[in-house]
Amino acid sequence: MEFFMIIFKKTILALTGLFICIFLIAHLGANFLLLLPEEQARVMYNNYSSALRGNVFISVIAYINYACILFHVGYAIVVTRRNKAARNDRYLINHTSENSSWTSQNMMLLGAIIFCFIVIHMANFWFKVKIQGHHEDLYQMVIDLFKDPIYLAIYVIASLPLGLHLSHGVQSAFKTLGLYHHRYVGWMARISMAYALVIGCGFGIIPIILFFR
Ligand code: HEM
Repeated sequence: MEFFMIIFKKTILALTGLFICIFLIAHLGANFLLLLPEEQARVMYNNYSSALRGNVFISVIAYINYACILFHVGYAIVVTRRNKAARNDRYLINHTSENSSWTSQNMMLLGAIIFCFIVIHMANFWFKVKIQGHHEDLYQMVIDLFKDPIYLAIYVIASLPLGLHLSHGVQSAFKTLGLYHHRYVGWMARISMAYALVIGCGFGIIPIILFFR
């Protein structure tokens, strides 16, 4: 029974993680609109965000995304605790550090940093838009935020733990879901790395370009 509970928890962790990965592609794509010539970017970004706000289907997806983030964090804590307890209980010699990368051993730390970033990010935009109803010019809100070097640094620095977390997380999720045949191990690792690079560099570079524009 304990075995099935572990598989169940890891499957939830993998599925919620992959859902967030799909959200991140869409979110990055939308944020690339910010890099268009200024007036075009303003019109397109604001139109895009008001179109999303008026769409019931998108609202449902948004709530599923919030739930995924919360479940992902919750199950990550449970699975990490269980793994630690299992290691301490059952093995006299622990080879973890020899057999895995720094990233795979520090997924919880990286995830915690990303969660703190998401809380700050929600306060920057989500709270102002969804709770306070300030959505007249979302484009300007983003531009104004990145004029502040502190927020510029927070967003740029956060893209590093995000990229690292994804580089291990994506291949780990494929493995948990059984989509990881030993013949394709190399490809899965390359796909995860490419995805992590695009997302990490993409989210890291946008604030820098906007700051210097
Ligand atoms: C260049 C960096 C980023 C910019 C400019 C940006 C911009 C925004 C804006 C303007 C919103 C509010 C949209 C609205 O309510 O209409 C938003 C929401 C959100 N962002 Fe970001 N974002 C960035 C990076 C990230 C990253 C790295 C993550 C995750 C690690 C993230 C996760 C979210 C989430 C979960 C929401 C809430 C989405 C929803 O309510 O449906 N964002 N972002």
